[in-house]
Amino acid sequence: MAIPTITDAQQADLIAQATLAAQHSYSPYSKFRVGAALLLETDEIITGCNVENCSYRLTSCAEQAAIARAVSQLGPHIRLRAVAVANLNNAASMPCGACRQTLAEFAPDDTPIYYPAENGTLAITTLGALLPNAFRPSALGL
Ligand code: THU
Repeated sequence: MAIPTITDAQQADLIAQATLAAQHSYSPYSKFRVGAALLLETDEIITGCNVENCSYRLTSCAEQAAIARAVSQLGPHIRLRAVAVANLNNAASMPCGACRQTLAEFAPDDTPIYYPAENGTLAITTLGALLPNAFRPSALGL
């Protein structure tokens, strides 16, 4: 399946905003500073960063923070057109398993995900490739 395209300008903006969001990261424990940017169907971009906690398991990932922020600001009907994740650690990194499920609540399988790959390169995949056969609201009749 072809990945739906967004414009080069939207892509650059999305990645820049994810990187900017990572500057706000609260990550005194891992020191892994992550930012996420969601491009919504409305063309709005909403960002989030990871927020850690001394009770480690309460950490919120950047993607989860961005989703919570988007719903809080705009309501329950948000839909994602694209997602970018970035970190300030020059590390190859893609959304963790929990974040894949969180994103899948609001985005179809063909949603492009931009992420930092090896050697400082940018890579693109889809949500469906990261989380095949996702458990979706449709399973509950929604
Ligand atoms: N982290 C994210 O924010 N997003 C991910 O998808 C991967 C992991 C954060 C959680 C924690 O604060 C730090 O990165 C190290 O795992």
